[in-house]
Amino acid sequence: MNISFSKIAPPSQGVVVFGIPDTGKLGAAAAKLDKQTRGAISRAVKAAEFTGKREKTFAIFVPEGTKLTRVVLVGLGSLKSLDTTAVERIGAVIYDAVAKDPAVTVVLEDNGSATDNAVLAAYLAGGIGLKSYRFTKYHTKRDKDSEPKLKNVVVQCASPAEAKKAYVGVSAVVDGVFITRDLVTEPPNVIYPESFVARAKDLTKDGIKVEALGEAAMKKLGMGALLGVGQGSRRESQLLVMRYDGAKDKNAPPLAIVGKGVCFDSGGISLKQPAGMWDMKWDMGGAGIVVGLMRALARRKAKVNVVGLCGLVENMPDGNAQRPGDVVTSMSGQTIEVLNTDAEGRLVLADVLWYAQQRFKPTAIVDLATLTGAIIAALSDHYAGLFSNNDDLAAKLTLAGQAVSERLWRLPMGDEYDRDLKSPIADMKNIGGGRAGATTAAQFLQRFIKDVPWAHLDVAGVVWNEKPTALAAGGSTGYGVRLLNRFIADNYEK
Ligand code: BES
Ligand code: MN
Ligand code: ZN
Repeated sequence: MNISFSKIAPPSQGVVVFGIPDTGKLGAAAAKLDKQTRGAISRAVKAAEFTGKREKTFAIFVPEGTKLTRVVLVGLGSLKSLDTTAVERIGAVIYDAVAKDPAVTVVLEDNGSATDNAVLAAYLAGGIGLKSYRFTKYHTKRDKDSEPKLKNVVVQCASPAEAKKAYVGVSAVVDGVFITRDLVTEPPNVIYPESFVARAKDLTKDGIKVEALGEAAMKKLGMGALLGVGQGSRRESQLLVMRYDGAKDKNAPPLAIVGKGVCFDSGGISLKQPAGMWDMKWDMGGAGIVVGLMRALARRKAKVNVVGLCGLVENMPDGNAQRPGDVVTSMSGQTIEVLNTDAEGRLVLADVLWYAQQRFKPTAIVDLATLTGAIIAALSDHYAGLFSNNDDLAAKLTLAGQAVSERLWRLPMGDEYDRDLKSPIADMKNIGGGRAGATTAAQFLQRFIKDVPWAHLDVAGVVWNEKPTALAAGGSTGYGVRLLNRFIADNYEK
């Protein structure tokens, strides 16, 4: 997609889109076109009862007296509440309305919105980009009639130079979301721990230091919990470490972001049902978010030190796989009775969280994991679950989620839940009693957190969505990249 910004001067040919506020008032450029067409636009608006309601679109075909093929009106809603997230979603709606056209011009006049017009123009372009994502590399036959054709977008606004500047940061985040979606969508025979690492190495060109520890190195560190999960797989487990030091003081302790990277979760010996097992290719969604976030931060030159860590394994049944009943020793020294090999994400995270604290002494840790089916039962795909030992951190994450419409809902933690993890033979078992499953999973993780602000985001319900969402066409959503990017921008770069 080629996106550029220019001064307001609607074209005389092709497809042009006008943003219309809920006052229903046409901006100067739209009004001029209306005049030129002897009122065709205002008459059509009236006939269609188009009121400028946010995200509503309305098309006028070949308006008389012009060479335009189509004029598309899109509702901006109230100018007061028109913020970056609202306009991003409007961009996505525009994409759907004009995807079959190879080129369009979008006119975003400055009609006195609360947010700066140039910033709005940049995010509108970002929304078009986000919604345009498709994953087609394995289709050998193209369906030319149904596929989108949009290649060139010109956004006209009051200060194009400023919009272009703002778009640098916006497009960095779009790039991040795209790499996340790629990683999540790739099939599990293509993305496995080592190939995931190979993809992440691409981030070195963004100025990120990428390293990976294999099984021998992890064995030396005593990561028995993570290694136990990967034991039944032909693929070697990996611990991926990505460092981006953008703060003034490059040696200042970083923020740590940790991702669950189960590249395929068959359940192991506690094998899952066949129906829907294919979904477990995206059980590395947390790790995918971490990679996308790192790319976004580096490309927009965020002023923060962040270390991203991904525990990458494949959970497979095999003669060498771990058994229900096995006891493993984690890097922390704590022992775990593995009663269900399908509760593997927490085992992986236990060692990665411990390693992150030991090595980096982070100021805070946020982990992302497609950890439990229970969180989907509780929240569906509308919110990700948030668990934390720190109210301030939880509040900041919640606010960032609200701001970008990737919402979080905090759920309780406490000793009464933690007790469920008692084992007669080891320090803990890896499953609770079957109730409040998302919380007992979080309690398990907390046993590997020392005295540091920590938040766990259970993203099992939001990483993948068969149906289109506001900013995605269906499939991998990229949820989490914009959320954490905003969380960092609002709290760590000031
Ligand atoms: N990866 C799954 C959780 C999951 C389920 C993610 C559905 C996305 C969609 C996780 O490893 C798992 O299997 N969890 C079990 C835990 C149980 C055995 C305690 C679950 O939620 O059923
Ligand atoms: Mn599992
Ligand atoms: Zn899993």
